Parts: sequence; C-alpha cells; structure tokens
Amino acid sequence: MIPMVDLKAQYADLKSEIDQAVSEVLGSGQFILGRNVEAFEKEVADYLGCQFAISCNSGTDALHLALRGLGISKGDEVITSTFTFIATAEAITYVGAKPVFVDIEPDTFNLDPAAVESAITPATRAIIPVHLYGRPANMPALQAISKKHQVLLVEDCAQSFGASISGQKTGAIGDAGCFSFFPSKNLGCYGDGGLITTNDQTLAEEIYILRNHGSKKRYEHAIVGYNSRLDELQAAILRCKLKQIDRFNEARWQVAAAYNDALSSLKDVSTPTLLTPQAHVFHQYTLRSQSRDHLAETLRQHQIATAIYYPIPLHRQQAFSNAQGLHLPVAEQIVTECLSLPIYPELPRQDIDFITHLIANLQH
Ligand SMILES: Cc1ncc(COP(=O)(O)O)c(C=O)c1O
Repeated sequence: MIPMVDLKAQYADLKSEIDQAVSEVLGSGQFILGRNVEAFEKEVADYLGCQFAISCNSGTDALHLALRGLGISKGDEVITSTFTFIATAEAITYVGAKPVFVDIEPDTFNLDPAAVESAITPATRAIIPVHLYGRPANMPALQAISKKHQVLLVEDCAQSFGASISGQKTGAIGDAGCFSFFPSKNLGCYGDGGLITTNDQTLAEEIYILRNHGSKKRYEHAIVGYNSRLDELQAAILRCKLKQIDRFNEARWQVAAAYNDALSSLKDVSTPTLLTPQAHVFHQYTLRSQSRDHLAETLRQHQIATAIYYPIPLHRQQAFSNAQGLHLPVAEQIVTECLSLPIYPELPRQDIDFITHLIANLQH
C-alpha cells in the first residue's frame, strides 16, 4: 500500500537525534513547561520572524486561546472559510462568537477576499484565513480588508508551517497565527501540540496565562484559564524536526513538482499551481477531477491511498445547522472534485511514477 503519509520514514531519518532528545527529557524528570518548551518557543519565533511564540496543547487550542486572548466573545462574528477542518470554526464557537462561512477561490482553495468583504457586518470582529494545503491565502488583500474595516486577522497556519508570502512567513503576518503539530502536519510531533504566534505583547501575556490555568505565579489565578500546554517530550522532538523543516518542505515541493510534471497536461485533471518551495509547502497535494470518485477507486484497487479534504463544507455540516441555508457554489462544487494524493518528504520516486502512470492511463 502507498499511504497518504508515512511517519515511520521520518522517524527512521532522525532516529538517533530524536531518541537522544527523548531520553534526555526522561532523565531530567521535568515534563511540563521546562527548558525544551522555552527553547522551542524561542527557536520557532526566530524561524517565523515574529516576537512571541506560545506553545499549547493543539492547533484547536491555539485558535481558541488566540480568539479568547483577543477578547472575541458572544455577539461577535468571525468570518472564515467554509472549506476547512472543523476546528477552525469550533474555536469561534468555543468563545461564544458566530462563525460566518464564506466561499473560496476555485484555483487556490483559499478564502475569496471579495466574498469576505461582502460578509462584513458591524458585528464582525475578525477574519480567519486558513492557509489550506500549505498554500498561503491572499494575505495582502485580506490585510487591506482588515485595515479598512478595523477587524482582526487570525491566521490558521495548521497546514502551512514554513510557507511564506513575499518573504514573510505565515503566522507572522496577521494579529495572531495558530499552528498545529498533529503528527501528520509538515512539522508534527508524536502526540498533540499547537502554538500561537503574535507580535502583540499584551496578547502574548494573556495567552501565557490562559494556557496555564490563568496563572502567572503558582497557585495565584488572575482569570479562569485552561490546561493547554505542550509537554517537554513533544517540545524536544519538535526541536529536532524544526532544524530540518526547510529540507522537509523542499522535499514535499519536489513531490508536488513531479506530480505536476506528469499530470498538468491531462484533460480531466486540474493540478495545483506550484509557486516556489518557500511559498507553498504542500501539506497536501490536491487536484480536481470531474471523475474524482472513479479516480480514487482505481487508485485504491492498485493499493494507493487517497483522501478527500474535505467531503462536506462547514456550512453543510449538521454541527452548523443554522448556516445550512447558505449557498457557497465554489466550495460545494470543489467538495465533489477534490482528491489529495500521497505526499510526504520521503515518498519514493518510483511510487510517484506508479501513481502518475495510473492516472495518465485512465485518461485514454
Ligand atoms: C486547518 C486546520 N485547522 C485546525 C486544525 C486543528 O489542529 P489540531 O488537530 O492540532 O487540534 C487542523 C488540524 O487538523 C487543521 O487542518
């Protein structure tokens, strides 16, 4: 079977370094908020080019803590993409605000800035662009909208660690950036993990407190917070992987380039735009095809995994039944056509060739 992602291959690559880091943590007896968390936060802030990086328990928590830290609450509206993982909208709901779903651009799968601007109301407090599949959303246009209407910009960077626009890394562009270190992400740990970035000191201080039971000084609680911390083991593992993230992202881009070389000219398939390896970090390689289900079934019969991210847009989910009256035609069409192929830095060239030959042969 060719899997969507092979986490064992990356562990094999970094085994000696990771084993040593894990064993040092086990020997230290310090598991929560220790030196690895502190060092990792500093290293991530340096890498992304932002002032503060505050780790937490997951990408979902990162979004939740950022929104709560920014004071978004009941009565507020937050605009986001209907074509994303549910966590983006869950976080909006957790703080009592209303998610307002808008459509995407057909070629980038990302928020359509014109649709965002039309959805702004006096209750809008923030926009959450999702850099889906590792491709940055149109941040210049969204920044202009955020400035014009005085609304906050919170980036969902769960899929875009290392991606950039004009030299600025995602997560360092908006008011806050929210990352996930779920194992299959571009930068993934071996459990759950997340992180918030910001250049706003007041927000950073609020989040440091929120993630640790509302406490700055032990057993003194200024506010009711959460238990949402990255643990030392995960931080130590992430520090090993962070050193290699550019190499891993470049290798993903090479996989995408090989797919594009073989598939771009096919009639029935629409492939993603390549951009540069610094811009698009290909968390997923997702094509569009009107015979998507047939394609997926043929690949499955040849032991090739594929995935549909995502089969149902959020405005059609039962969990958001009050949005079900919306008609967002681009996303509704794309959920019937999108198909993600296996992609990970170590994906062997012969597997890529096998997959692309099969797809090309289907066209005849
Ligand atoms: C776009 C997006 N946002 C948020 C999340 C939530 O991250 P986590 O699974 O770490 O909570 C994910 C992860 O699956 C994601 O893909």
